[in-house]
Order: sequence, then structure tokens, then C-alpha cells
Amino acid sequence: MSRTAIFPGSFDPMTNAHLDVARRAARLFDGLVIGVLDNPRKQPLFSVEERVTLIERSVAELGTQVTVRSFAGLTVDFAREVGAAFIVRGLRAFSDFEYELQMVHMNRRLSPALDTTFLMTGLEFGYISSTLAREIARFGGDVGGMVPPPVAAALLERARSGRGEV
Ligand code: PNS
Repeated sequence: MSRTAIFPGSFDPMTNAHLDVARRAARLFDGLVIGVLDNPRKQPLFSVEERVTLIERSVAELGTQVTVRSFAGLTVDFAREVGAAFIVRGLRAFSDFEYELQMVHMNRRLSPALDTTFLMTGLEFGYISSTLAREIARFGGDVGGMVPPPVAAALLERARSGRGEV
């Protein structure tokens, strides 16, 4: 039986913590679909198309079983659409747990057969977040090591062009 999982998120932008989770999940599942949420209520730094492209470039080394798609609406519907029986989420620290637990139970209520698998990010990624990466890049700080190289280049370009505000 082929096991497919989705790894949903905002990914604005993808960080090395996300990439670490994707790398670990790619070893566990036959197929991993990274789902980029297109949320009309949020004003992201990168458009959904840009986020998809940046992730595709960042995960190219992980092989063809890892694909990237955008989605709108409910995560459980996205899972059904791509034929996934699992959701993958990363945990960096205990502080992530409460929010994740709430999502697990809500998703389970909506789709009882869909299970969520948590993967702990490497210790070195525990402090990294998309929000901090955006902020550091905006003020000209070095984001190398925090985000994959294609994302670092895109953040730098945004900061230089003065479009790094979010
Ligand atoms: O990277 P994030 O912002 O922590 O990801 C959160 C995400 C996208 C996984 C979550 O907001 C989500 O699943 N949104 C889609 C709408 C939905 O299904 N909401 C109910 C889930 S509890």
C-alpha cells in the first residue's frame, strides 16, 4: 500500500526547520505533498505562487516523491483531494504543542480517518521561524543558515527593493 502524507503550512517563507521536517517525512512516506495555504485573510510577504516556487527549488534534492501544491480552504479537504491518509507537522519546542494539539483534534473531528504525524525538528532549528527570518532580512541581517539558499536570495532581493515589509 502506498502511503501519502501532506505537509500543510503557510511557508511565508520556507525555513530550514520546515526543510528538516520535509526531509525526515520524505523518508517515512512514499509520497509527500507540501501544501501551501492560500489564505485570503492574510497578507503574505510572498505570493502563493512565489512560495510554491521557492519550496520546489528548496526540496529539489529530496527526490520526486516530494511535490508542492497550493491549496485553499480546509486542510482535510486538501488531504482527500491528493489521496493522503496522513498530515505531517513539525514540532520545534513545547510551545508549538498546544496549537498543534488543537488542530489535530479539529482535523480529526472533520476527518476521523486522517491522522497527524509529528516530527521533531533538529535542535539547531528550534529557534527558527518564518516570522523571524522575514524580520531579520528586512533589517539587513544575515538569514543564511536559517532558510534554504533560494529563500535567502529572495528575501535579500525583497529587502534591497524595499518590498520586505510585512
Ligand atoms: O504554517 P502554519 O501557519 O502554522 O500552518 C497552519 C495551517 C495552514 C496548517 C492551518 O492554518 C490550516 O490547516 N489551515 C487551513 C484551514 C483549516 O483546515 N483549518 C482548520 C484546521 S484546525
